[in-house]
Amino acid sequence: MKIFLIGFMGAGKTTFGKRLAKKLDFPFFDLDHLIEDITGGSVADYFAKNGEAQFRDFEKEVLQKHDFPENFVLSTGGGAPCFHDNMEWMNKAGKTIYLQLSPKAIAGRLENAKEERPLIKGLKGDELVQFIEQRLAAREDFYKQAHFIVDGLSVNPDAVIELLTRQW
Ligand code: S3P
Repeated sequence: MKIFLIGFMGAGKTTFGKRLAKKLDFPFFDLDHLIEDITGGSVADYFAKNGEAQFRDFEKEVLQKHDFPENFVLSTGGGAPCFHDNMEWMNKAGKTIYLQLSPKAIAGRLENAKEERPLIKGLKGDELVQFIEQRLAAREDFYKQAHFIVDGLSVNPDAVIELLTRQW
């Protein structure tokens, strides 16, 4: 089974993904880290050098062309489901899980983790909350196409495995 975790920056996709993968005994992958392994630099560097449009093309290529094993948990970057045909592609390839959080909760989580995220670098307080509200409103059309929507604050691996096994 191929499990794709989606949601806004700071939703906890990587932390939760590692826990879920461990419980399932599946390998865990992080799309941003795969991109960084391939390019040899950070996502922030890639944005700075090549711009967002080129990043989205590369992100799609790695998501859709990488040689993943049969079973895995993949944490995707917050924008990945919202560009190209990535959301549709993930929904066909496996099971998608949206980790949903309010803009305020996301802002709290991101307050100390902004530097490595080019889209929010330098935003503070209300500016950050407003940016998240606007982006999230636009992105939820995509995120809500997920097979499962779970509360990012209370999600736990057993509950998700239960959801997945019901229709395995
Ligand atoms: C992005 C989210 C980031 C990373 C890039 C762009 C976005 O991933 O892919 O900075 O557009 O929301 P995380 O969601 O893992 O922070």
